[in-house]
Amino acid sequence: MATNNLSILFVASEVEGLIKSGGLADVAKALPEALHGLQQDVRITIPAYNGIERLSEAEVLLETQLTSWPHTEYRVLRLYLGDTPVYLIDCQPYFNRPSMYAENNEAYSDNGERFAFFSAACLDMLPKLDFRPDIVHANDWHTGLVPFLLKHRYGSDPFYANIRSVISIHNAVFKGVFSYDEVQCLPEFHSRNVPDAAVSSTHIAMLKAGVLNADKINAVSPTYAEELQTELGSHGMAWEFQQRAKDLVGILNGCDYSAWNPKTDAYLPLNYEPSHQSMVEGKSACKKALQQRLNLAEKDCAMFGMVCRLTMQKGLHYLLPALTDFLKHDVQLVVVGTGDPVLATHLEEVAEQFPDKFVFVDAYDNELAHLVEAGADFFLMPSEFEPCGLNQIYSMAYGTLPIVRGVGGLKDSVNDYDVDSSDATGFVFYDPTPQALLLTMLRALLLYTQNNAEVKRVQLHAMQQDFCWRKAAEEYLELYHSALKSISLA
Ligand code: GLC
Repeated sequence: MATNNLSILFVASEVEGLIKSGGLADVAKALPEALHGLQQDVRITIPAYNGIERLSEAEVLLETQLTSWPHTEYRVLRLYLGDTPVYLIDCQPYFNRPSMYAENNEAYSDNGERFAFFSAACLDMLPKLDFRPDIVHANDWHTGLVPFLLKHRYGSDPFYANIRSVISIHNAVFKGVFSYDEVQCLPEFHSRNVPDAAVSSTHIAMLKAGVLNADKINAVSPTYAEELQTELGSHGMAWEFQQRAKDLVGILNGCDYSAWNPKTDAYLPLNYEPSHQSMVEGKSACKKALQQRLNLAEKDCAMFGMVCRLTMQKGLHYLLPALTDFLKHDVQLVVVGTGDPVLATHLEEVAEQFPDKFVFVDAYDNELAHLVEAGADFFLMPSEFEPCGLNQIYSMAYGTLPIVRGVGGLKDSVNDYDVDSSDATGFVFYDPTPQALLLTMLRALLLYTQNNAEVKRVQLHAMQQDFCWRKAAEEYLELYHSALKSISLA
Protein backbone atom coordinates (compact mmCIF):
# COMPACT_ATOMS: atom_id res chain seq x y z
CA MET A 1 0.00 0.00 0.00
CA ALA A 2 1.21 3.49 -0.82
CA THR A 3 2.26 5.44 2.23
CA ASN A 4 1.94 9.03 1.03
CA ASN A 5 -0.67 10.99 2.94
CA LEU A 6 -3.93 11.94 1.35
CA SER A 7 -6.38 14.71 1.98
CA ILE A 8 -9.97 13.64 2.10
CA LEU A 9 -13.25 15.52 2.22
CA PHE A 10 -15.74 13.22 3.95
CA VAL A 11 -19.28 14.32 3.06
CA ALA A 12 -22.29 12.99 4.95
CA SER A 13 -25.71 14.08 6.11
CA GLU A 14 -25.04 13.46 9.83
CA VAL A 15 -22.19 12.77 12.23
CA GLU A 16 -22.22 11.30 15.73
CA GLY A 17 -21.05 13.80 18.32
CA LEU A 18 -22.92 16.60 16.56
CA ILE A 19 -26.19 15.17 15.26
CA LYS A 20 -27.36 11.62 14.65
CA SER A 21 -30.33 9.60 13.47
CA GLY A 22 -28.69 6.26 12.62
CA GLY A 23 -25.59 4.16 12.01
CA LEU A 24 -24.36 6.41 9.21
CA ALA A 25 -23.52 9.02 11.84
CA ASP A 26 -21.39 6.52 13.80
CA VAL A 27 -19.38 5.76 10.69
CA ALA A 28 -19.09 9.44 9.76
CA LYS A 29 -17.34 10.06 13.06
CA ALA A 30 -15.31 6.90 13.54
CA LEU A 31 -13.93 6.41 10.04
CA PRO A 32 -12.52 9.95 9.66
CA GLU A 33 -11.04 9.63 13.15
CA ALA A 34 -9.39 6.34 12.23
CA LEU A 35 -8.07 7.84 8.97
CA HIS A 36 -6.73 10.74 10.96
CA GLY A 37 -4.99 8.17 13.17
CA LEU A 38 -3.32 6.90 9.99
CA GLN A 39 -1.95 10.44 9.41
CA GLN A 40 -4.39 11.37 6.68
CA ASP A 41 -5.81 14.90 6.42
CA VAL A 42 -9.56 14.28 6.75
CA ARG A 43 -12.23 16.94 7.00
CA ILE A 44 -15.91 16.14 7.50
CA THR A 45 -18.74 18.17 5.94
CA ILE A 46 -22.39 18.11 7.00
CA PRO A 47 -25.25 20.62 6.80
CA ALA A 48 -25.40 23.18 9.63
CA TYR A 49 -28.74 21.93 11.01
CA ASN A 50 -29.95 24.11 13.82
CA GLY A 51 -30.36 20.94 15.95
CA ILE A 52 -26.57 20.86 16.37
CA GLU A 53 -26.11 22.04 19.93
CA ARG A 54 -22.57 23.31 19.46
CA LEU A 55 -23.48 25.40 16.42
CA SER A 56 -23.16 28.67 18.31
CA GLU A 57 -19.48 27.88 19.09
CA ALA A 58 -18.62 27.36 15.42
CA GLU A 59 -16.13 29.61 13.72
CA VAL A 60 -17.29 31.30 10.50
CA LEU A 61 -14.80 30.50 7.74
CA LEU A 62 -16.63 31.74 4.69
CA GLU A 63 -19.61 33.86 3.68
CA THR A 64 -20.23 33.32 0.04
CA GLN A 65 -22.64 32.21 -2.66
CA LEU A 66 -22.60 29.37 -5.16
CA THR A 67 -20.45 30.44 -8.07
CA SER A 68 -22.87 28.65 -10.41
CA TRP A 69 -26.50 29.61 -10.86
CA PRO A 70 -28.68 30.07 -8.74
CA HIS A 71 -25.89 31.72 -6.68
CA THR A 72 -27.48 30.64 -3.40
CA GLU A 73 -25.92 32.41 -0.43
CA TYR A 74 -24.35 30.20 2.20
CA ARG A 75 -21.73 30.20 4.94
CA VAL A 76 -19.15 27.62 5.93
CA LEU A 77 -18.69 27.19 9.67
CA ARG A 78 -16.13 25.01 11.41
CA LEU A 79 -16.24 22.88 14.53
CA TYR A 80 -13.87 20.12 15.64
CA LEU A 81 -14.65 16.56 16.63
CA GLY A 82 -11.48 15.70 18.51
CA ASP A 83 -8.77 16.71 16.05
CA THR A 84 -10.97 16.35 12.99
CA PRO A 85 -12.36 19.56 11.46
CA VAL A 86 -16.04 19.54 10.56
CA TYR A 87 -17.22 22.03 7.94
CA LEU A 88 -20.86 22.94 8.36
CA ILE A 89 -22.73 24.28 5.34
CA ASP A 90 -25.03 26.93 6.69
CA CYS A 91 -28.00 27.96 4.59
CA GLN A 92 -30.86 29.04 6.83
CA PRO A 93 -33.82 28.42 4.48
CA TYR A 94 -32.72 24.79 4.08
CA PHE A 95 -31.31 23.77 7.43
CA ASN A 96 -32.82 26.02 10.07
CA ARG A 97 -35.61 23.55 10.86
CA PRO A 98 -36.65 21.46 13.85
CA SER A 99 -35.42 18.24 12.25
CA MET A 100 -32.89 16.88 9.74
CA TYR A 101 -35.06 15.09 7.21
CA ALA A 102 -38.67 14.81 8.33
CA GLU A 103 -41.26 15.95 10.80
CA ASN A 104 -44.07 13.72 12.13
CA ASN A 105 -42.76 10.86 9.98
CA GLU A 106 -43.17 12.98 6.83
CA ALA A 107 -40.12 13.93 4.76
CA TYR A 108 -39.62 17.64 4.07
CA SER A 109 -41.17 18.34 0.68
CA ASP A 110 -38.01 20.09 -0.55
CA ASN A 111 -35.49 17.41 0.45
CA GLY A 112 -34.45 17.08 -3.20
CA GLU A 113 -33.53 20.73 -3.35
CA ARG A 114 -31.93 20.75 0.12
CA PHE A 115 -29.51 17.93 -0.60
CA ALA A 116 -28.89 19.01 -4.20
CA PHE A 117 -27.82 22.37 -2.81
CA PHE A 118 -25.74 20.74 -0.06
CA SER A 119 -23.91 18.56 -2.60
CA ALA A 120 -23.22 21.58 -4.82
CA ALA A 121 -21.99 23.68 -1.90
CA CYS A 122 -19.55 20.97 -0.68
CA LEU A 123 -17.68 21.26 -3.97
CA ASP A 124 -18.20 25.00 -4.49
CA MET A 125 -16.53 25.81 -1.17
CA LEU A 126 -13.27 23.97 -1.88
CA PRO A 127 -11.28 26.57 -3.87
CA LYS A 128 -12.69 29.29 -1.60
CA LEU A 129 -11.26 27.44 1.41
CA ASP A 130 -8.08 26.78 -0.52
CA PHE A 131 -8.54 23.07 0.15
CA ARG A 132 -7.99 20.69 -2.71
CA PRO A 133 -8.64 17.15 -1.44
CA ASP A 134 -7.36 14.10 -3.27
CA ILE A 135 -10.60 12.28 -2.48
CA VAL A 136 -14.16 13.38 -1.95
CA HIS A 137 -15.93 10.62 -0.05
CA ALA A 138 -19.74 10.72 -0.34
CA ASN A 139 -22.19 8.63 1.69
CA ASP A 140 -25.66 7.41 0.72
CA TRP A 141 -28.24 9.21 -1.40
CA HIS A 142 -28.03 12.59 0.35
CA THR A 143 -24.61 13.16 -1.14
CA GLY A 144 -25.01 11.06 -4.29
CA LEU A 145 -24.90 14.19 -6.41
CA VAL A 146 -21.37 15.00 -5.21
CA PRO A 147 -19.66 12.47 -7.55
CA PHE A 148 -22.15 13.45 -10.26
CA LEU A 149 -21.35 17.17 -10.02
CA LEU A 150 -17.64 16.50 -9.76
CA LYS A 151 -17.82 14.88 -13.21
CA HIS A 152 -20.53 16.91 -14.89
CA ARG A 153 -19.92 20.38 -13.52
CA TYR A 154 -16.24 20.36 -12.71
CA GLY A 155 -14.79 17.66 -14.99
CA SER A 156 -12.79 20.15 -17.05
CA ASP A 157 -11.99 22.66 -14.29
CA PRO A 158 -8.25 22.38 -13.47
CA PHE A 159 -8.84 22.90 -9.73
CA TYR A 160 -11.01 19.77 -9.58
CA ALA A 161 -9.47 17.72 -12.38
CA ASN A 162 -7.41 15.44 -10.13
CA ILE A 163 -9.98 14.99 -7.36
CA ARG A 164 -11.40 11.48 -7.27
CA SER A 165 -14.66 10.42 -5.66
CA VAL A 166 -15.80 7.45 -3.62
CA ILE A 167 -19.33 6.70 -2.48
CA SER A 168 -20.19 4.41 0.44
CA ILE A 169 -23.51 2.61 0.39
CA HIS A 170 -24.92 2.36 3.91
CA ASN A 171 -28.47 1.65 2.84
CA ALA A 172 -29.60 1.38 -0.77
CA VAL A 173 -33.26 1.12 0.10
CA PHE A 174 -33.22 4.93 0.30
CA LYS A 175 -32.39 6.25 -3.16
CA GLY A 176 -33.30 9.91 -3.03
CA VAL A 177 -35.82 9.78 -5.87
CA PHE A 178 -37.06 13.22 -6.94
CA SER A 179 -38.79 14.66 -9.98
CA TYR A 180 -36.78 16.86 -12.30
CA ASP A 181 -38.98 19.70 -11.05
CA GLU A 182 -37.66 19.22 -7.53
CA VAL A 183 -34.00 19.51 -8.52
CA GLN A 184 -34.16 22.48 -10.86
CA CYS A 185 -31.77 24.30 -8.52
CA LEU A 186 -29.07 22.39 -10.40
CA PRO A 187 -28.79 23.56 -14.02
CA GLU A 188 -27.54 20.06 -14.90
CA PHE A 189 -31.17 18.93 -14.62
CA HIS A 190 -32.73 21.65 -16.76
CA SER A 191 -32.66 19.43 -19.83
CA ARG A 192 -34.85 16.91 -17.99
CA ASN A 193 -32.92 14.17 -19.70
CA VAL A 194 -30.00 12.98 -17.61
CA PRO A 195 -29.51 9.26 -18.24
CA ASP A 196 -26.94 8.65 -15.52
CA ALA A 197 -29.33 9.89 -12.84
CA ALA A 198 -32.75 9.10 -14.39
CA VAL A 199 -34.96 6.35 -13.06
CA SER A 200 -37.90 7.26 -15.34
CA SER A 201 -38.75 9.98 -17.84
CA THR A 202 -39.81 12.24 -14.98
CA HIS A 203 -37.61 11.28 -12.00
CA ILE A 204 -33.98 10.97 -10.99
CA ALA A 205 -32.35 9.06 -8.11
CA MET A 206 -29.46 10.72 -6.34
CA LEU A 207 -28.04 7.35 -5.32
CA LYS A 208 -27.94 6.21 -8.93
CA ALA A 209 -26.14 9.41 -9.92
CA GLY A 210 -23.59 8.68 -7.20
CA VAL A 211 -23.08 5.04 -8.13
CA LEU A 212 -22.67 5.69 -11.84
CA ASN A 213 -20.32 8.66 -11.39
CA ALA A 214 -18.11 7.82 -8.41
CA ASP A 215 -14.64 6.51 -9.22
CA LYS A 216 -14.99 3.80 -6.58
CA ILE A 217 -17.92 2.44 -4.61
CA ASN A 218 -18.02 0.51 -1.40
CA ALA A 219 -20.72 -1.31 0.48
CA VAL A 220 -20.42 -1.37 4.26
CA SER A 221 -19.85 -5.16 4.32
CA PRO A 222 -18.55 -7.73 1.81
CA THR A 223 -21.86 -9.62 1.76
CA TYR A 224 -23.78 -6.40 1.12
CA ALA A 225 -21.47 -5.71 -1.85
CA GLU A 226 -22.64 -9.05 -3.26
CA GLU A 227 -26.29 -8.45 -2.38
CA LEU A 228 -26.28 -5.06 -4.11
CA GLN A 229 -25.69 -6.83 -7.40
CA THR A 230 -29.04 -8.60 -7.10
CA GLU A 231 -32.47 -7.03 -7.65
CA LEU A 232 -33.69 -7.98 -4.19
CA GLY A 233 -30.56 -6.95 -2.34
CA SER A 234 -30.27 -3.58 -4.10
CA HIS A 235 -34.00 -2.88 -4.00
CA GLY A 236 -34.14 -2.50 -7.76
CA MET A 237 -30.74 -1.07 -8.64
CA ALA A 238 -28.91 -4.29 -9.54
CA TRP A 239 -28.09 -3.18 -13.09
CA GLU A 240 -26.21 -0.11 -11.87
CA PHE A 241 -24.19 -2.06 -9.31
CA GLN A 242 -23.45 -4.80 -11.85
CA GLN A 243 -22.18 -2.15 -14.27
CA ARG A 244 -19.78 -0.95 -11.61
CA ALA A 245 -18.85 -4.40 -10.28
CA LYS A 246 -15.12 -3.97 -10.90
CA ASP A 247 -15.08 -0.74 -8.89
CA LEU A 248 -17.27 -2.06 -6.07
CA VAL A 249 -15.85 -3.50 -2.85
CA GLY A 250 -17.22 -4.38 0.58
CA ILE A 251 -15.58 -3.04 3.74
CA LEU A 252 -17.01 -4.07 7.07
CA ASN A 253 -17.60 -1.19 9.48
CA GLY A 254 -15.60 -1.18 12.68
CA CYS A 255 -16.54 -0.56 16.27
CA ASP A 256 -15.81 2.74 17.98
CA TYR A 257 -14.37 1.25 21.16
CA SER A 258 -14.00 4.70 22.68
CA ALA A 259 -17.81 4.87 22.83
CA TRP A 260 -18.66 1.16 23.10
CA ASN A 261 -16.39 -0.50 25.63
CA PRO A 262 -17.66 -2.12 28.85
CA LYS A 263 -14.33 -1.37 30.51
CA THR A 264 -14.79 2.40 30.26
CA ASP A 265 -18.53 2.86 29.63
CA ALA A 266 -19.75 5.58 32.01
CA TYR A 267 -23.38 4.47 31.67
CA LEU A 268 -22.77 1.11 33.39
CA PRO A 269 -23.10 0.55 37.14
CA LEU A 270 -20.03 -1.70 37.03
CA ASN A 271 -17.37 -1.79 34.32
CA TYR A 272 -15.95 -5.08 33.17
CA GLU A 273 -13.36 -6.52 30.82
CA PRO A 274 -12.82 -9.70 28.83
CA SER A 275 -11.89 -12.04 31.65
CA HIS A 276 -14.28 -14.64 33.00
CA GLN A 277 -14.76 -13.27 36.49
CA SER A 278 -14.89 -9.61 35.52
CA MET A 279 -17.42 -10.33 32.77
CA VAL A 280 -19.67 -12.46 34.98
CA GLU A 281 -19.70 -9.89 37.79
CA GLY A 282 -20.10 -6.92 35.46
CA LYS A 283 -22.86 -8.38 33.36
CA SER A 284 -24.78 -9.51 36.41
CA ALA A 285 -24.63 -5.99 37.95
CA CYS A 286 -25.71 -4.50 34.61
CA LYS A 287 -28.58 -6.97 34.30
CA LYS A 288 -29.83 -5.98 37.75
CA ALA A 289 -29.63 -2.30 36.88
CA LEU A 290 -31.48 -2.94 33.64
CA GLN A 291 -34.22 -4.90 35.41
CA GLN A 292 -34.62 -2.07 37.93
CA ARG A 293 -34.73 0.53 35.20
CA LEU A 294 -37.40 -1.49 33.33
CA ASN A 295 -39.40 -2.36 36.45
CA LEU A 296 -38.89 -6.06 35.85
CA ALA A 297 -38.32 -8.64 38.58
CA GLU A 298 -34.66 -8.88 39.62
CA LYS A 299 -34.16 -12.55 38.89
CA ASP A 300 -31.70 -14.67 37.02
CA CYS A 301 -33.59 -15.54 33.87
CA ALA A 302 -32.42 -15.04 30.30
CA MET A 303 -32.68 -11.42 29.19
CA PHE A 304 -33.11 -10.62 25.49
CA GLY A 305 -32.59 -7.07 24.24
CA MET A 306 -33.20 -5.21 21.01
CA VAL A 307 -32.38 -1.59 20.19
CA CYS A 308 -33.34 -0.32 16.76
CA ARG A 309 -35.30 2.05 14.59
CA LEU A 310 -38.82 0.65 14.34
CA THR A 311 -38.85 -0.24 10.66
CA MET A 312 -39.54 -3.39 8.69
CA GLN A 313 -35.82 -3.49 7.83
CA LYS A 314 -35.08 -4.47 11.41
CA GLY A 315 -37.30 -7.55 11.21
CA LEU A 316 -39.99 -6.55 13.71
CA HIS A 317 -42.48 -8.35 11.49
CA TYR A 318 -40.61 -11.56 12.28
CA LEU A 319 -40.38 -10.78 15.98
CA LEU A 320 -43.96 -9.67 16.66
CA PRO A 321 -45.68 -12.94 15.64
CA ALA A 322 -43.03 -14.94 17.54
CA LEU A 323 -43.38 -13.02 20.79
CA THR A 324 -46.53 -14.60 22.21
CA ASP A 325 -45.03 -18.08 21.97
CA PHE A 326 -41.65 -17.02 23.20
CA LEU A 327 -42.93 -15.10 26.21
CA LYS A 328 -44.56 -18.26 27.59
CA HIS A 329 -41.08 -19.19 28.77
CA ASP A 330 -39.22 -17.87 31.79
CA VAL A 331 -37.56 -14.95 30.03
CA GLN A 332 -37.40 -11.16 29.96
CA LEU A 333 -37.28 -9.14 26.78
CA VAL A 334 -36.88 -5.43 26.07
CA VAL A 335 -37.24 -3.47 22.84
CA VAL A 336 -35.98 0.13 22.73
CA GLY A 337 -36.60 2.34 19.72
CA THR A 338 -38.76 4.81 17.88
CA GLY A 339 -40.21 4.89 14.41
CA ASP A 340 -43.19 3.39 12.63
CA PRO A 341 -46.26 4.12 14.82
CA VAL A 342 -48.00 0.91 13.70
CA LEU A 343 -45.12 -1.23 14.91
CA ALA A 344 -45.00 0.80 18.14
CA THR A 345 -48.70 0.10 18.77
CA HIS A 346 -48.19 -3.65 18.25
CA LEU A 347 -45.27 -3.65 20.66
CA GLU A 348 -47.32 -1.76 23.24
CA GLU A 349 -50.09 -4.37 22.96
CA VAL A 350 -47.62 -7.18 23.67
CA ALA A 351 -46.26 -5.22 26.64
CA GLU A 352 -49.78 -4.95 28.07
CA GLN A 353 -50.31 -8.67 27.61
CA PHE A 354 -47.00 -9.66 29.25
CA PRO A 355 -46.23 -6.84 31.71
CA ASP A 356 -43.87 -8.92 33.85
CA LYS A 357 -41.78 -10.18 30.94
CA PHE A 358 -41.78 -7.70 28.11
CA VAL A 359 -41.01 -3.99 28.08
CA PHE A 360 -41.19 -1.66 25.11
CA VAL A 361 -39.47 1.71 25.50
CA ASP A 362 -40.68 4.02 22.75
CA ALA A 363 -37.65 6.30 22.80
CA TYR A 364 -34.26 6.94 21.31
CA ASP A 365 -32.24 6.63 24.51
CA ASN A 366 -28.47 6.28 24.20
CA GLU A 367 -27.91 5.61 27.90
CA LEU A 368 -30.49 2.83 27.96
CA ALA A 369 -29.02 1.42 24.73
CA HIS A 370 -25.68 1.00 26.54
CA LEU A 371 -27.35 -0.66 29.50
CA VAL A 372 -29.24 -3.09 27.24
CA GLU A 373 -26.02 -3.98 25.40
CA ALA A 374 -24.37 -4.77 28.74
CA GLY A 375 -27.23 -6.19 30.81
CA ALA A 376 -28.84 -8.52 28.27
CA ASP A 377 -27.63 -12.06 27.64
CA PHE A 378 -28.75 -12.06 24.01
CA PHE A 379 -29.25 -9.24 21.51
CA LEU A 380 -31.83 -9.52 18.73
CA MET A 381 -31.15 -8.37 15.16
CA PRO A 382 -33.46 -10.43 12.94
CA SER A 383 -33.14 -7.93 10.08
CA GLU A 384 -34.83 -8.41 6.74
CA PHE A 385 -31.69 -6.82 5.28
CA GLU A 386 -28.73 -5.19 7.01
CA PRO A 387 -25.96 -3.45 5.06
CA CYS A 388 -23.63 -3.77 8.04
CA GLY A 389 -25.36 -3.37 11.35
CA LEU A 390 -23.41 -2.00 14.27
CA ASN A 391 -25.37 -3.12 17.32
CA GLN A 392 -24.37 -6.76 16.85
CA ILE A 393 -20.75 -5.63 16.93
CA TYR A 394 -21.37 -3.52 20.04
CA SER A 395 -23.19 -6.39 21.72
CA MET A 396 -20.26 -8.75 21.13
CA ALA A 397 -17.95 -6.20 22.77
CA TYR A 398 -20.24 -6.36 25.82
CA GLY A 399 -20.38 -10.18 25.87
CA THR A 400 -24.01 -10.20 24.77
CA LEU A 401 -24.64 -12.82 22.13
CA PRO A 402 -26.27 -11.50 18.97
CA ILE A 403 -29.12 -13.47 17.40
CA VAL A 404 -29.09 -12.39 13.78
CA ARG A 405 -30.46 -13.21 10.38
CA GLY A 406 -27.58 -14.12 8.08
CA VAL A 407 -27.73 -11.13 5.73
CA GLY A 408 -25.30 -8.34 4.88
CA GLY A 409 -22.89 -7.39 7.61
CA LEU A 410 -24.69 -9.59 10.14
CA LYS A 411 -23.53 -12.62 8.19
CA ASP A 412 -20.00 -11.23 7.97
CA SER A 413 -19.62 -10.50 11.66
CA VAL A 414 -21.40 -13.21 13.69
CA ASN A 415 -20.37 -16.89 13.89
CA ASP A 416 -23.24 -19.28 14.52
CA TYR A 417 -23.07 -21.57 17.53
CA ASP A 418 -24.43 -24.59 15.68
CA VAL A 419 -22.00 -24.28 12.79
CA ASP A 420 -18.86 -24.20 14.92
CA SER A 421 -19.40 -23.91 18.65
CA SER A 422 -15.68 -23.39 19.39
CA ASP A 423 -15.52 -20.17 17.33
CA ALA A 424 -19.12 -19.10 17.96
CA THR A 425 -19.99 -15.51 18.80
CA GLY A 426 -23.78 -15.73 18.51
CA PHE A 427 -26.64 -17.39 16.67
CA VAL A 428 -27.52 -17.08 12.99
CA PHE A 429 -30.69 -18.04 11.12
CA TYR A 430 -31.57 -17.54 7.48
CA ASP A 431 -35.26 -18.07 6.70
CA PRO A 432 -37.13 -14.75 6.70
CA THR A 433 -39.91 -16.10 8.92
CA PRO A 434 -41.11 -15.68 12.51
CA GLN A 435 -40.73 -19.46 12.94
CA ALA A 436 -37.03 -19.41 12.06
CA LEU A 437 -36.44 -16.54 14.48
CA LEU A 438 -38.46 -18.22 17.23
CA LEU A 439 -36.52 -21.47 16.83
CA THR A 440 -33.23 -19.60 17.09
CA MET A 441 -34.33 -17.68 20.18
CA LEU A 442 -35.33 -21.03 21.69
CA ARG A 443 -31.93 -22.51 20.75
CA ALA A 444 -30.29 -19.68 22.68
CA LEU A 445 -32.67 -20.03 25.62
CA LEU A 446 -32.11 -23.78 25.81
CA LEU A 447 -28.36 -23.32 25.97
CA TYR A 448 -28.82 -20.67 28.66
CA THR A 449 -30.96 -22.91 30.84
CA GLN A 450 -29.17 -26.21 30.21
CA ASN A 451 -25.54 -25.19 29.97
CA ASN A 452 -25.02 -21.75 31.41
CA ALA A 453 -21.25 -22.20 31.70
CA GLU A 454 -21.11 -22.77 27.96
CA VAL A 455 -23.05 -19.53 27.33
CA LYS A 456 -20.49 -17.68 29.43
CA ARG A 457 -17.62 -19.24 27.47
CA VAL A 458 -19.18 -18.10 24.20
CA GLN A 459 -19.88 -14.65 25.64
CA LEU A 460 -16.24 -14.30 26.60
CA HIS A 461 -15.17 -15.39 23.13
CA ALA A 462 -17.49 -12.73 21.65
CA MET A 463 -15.91 -10.11 23.90
CA GLN A 464 -12.47 -11.04 22.62
CA GLN A 465 -13.31 -10.25 18.98
CA ASP A 466 -11.69 -7.15 17.57
CA PHE A 467 -13.58 -5.08 15.00
CA CYS A 468 -11.24 -2.12 15.18
CA TRP A 469 -11.77 0.82 12.85
CA ARG A 470 -8.08 0.96 12.09
CA LYS A 471 -8.30 -2.17 9.96
CA ALA A 472 -11.34 -0.82 8.08
CA ALA A 473 -9.61 2.54 7.63
CA GLU A 474 -6.63 0.79 6.03
CA GLU A 475 -8.99 -0.85 3.55
CA TYR A 476 -10.55 2.55 2.77
CA LEU A 477 -7.07 3.96 2.21
CA GLU A 478 -6.39 1.23 -0.31
CA LEU A 479 -9.66 2.07 -2.03
CA TYR A 480 -8.70 5.77 -2.18
CA HIS A 481 -5.33 4.91 -3.67
CA SER A 482 -6.96 2.68 -6.26
CA ALA A 483 -9.31 5.57 -7.17
CA LEU A 484 -6.28 7.81 -7.63
CA LYS A 485 -4.52 5.31 -9.90
CA SER A 486 -6.57 6.54 -12.84
CA ILE A 487 -4.71 9.86 -12.52
CA SER A 488 -1.26 8.35 -12.68
CA LEU A 489 -2.42 6.25 -15.65
CA ALA A 490 -3.87 9.26 -17.49
C1 GLC B 1 -27.23 2.06 7.84
C2 GLC B 1 -27.45 0.55 7.71
C3 GLC B 1 -26.68 -0.22 8.76
C4 GLC B 1 -25.22 0.23 8.79
C5 GLC B 1 -25.14 1.74 8.96
C6 GLC B 1 -23.71 2.26 8.95
O1 GLC B 1 -27.86 2.53 9.00
O2 GLC B 1 -28.84 0.24 7.80
O3 GLC B 1 -26.73 -1.60 8.50
O4 GLC B 1 -24.55 -0.38 9.85
O5 GLC B 1 -25.83 2.37 7.91
O6 GLC B 1 -23.00 1.87 7.80
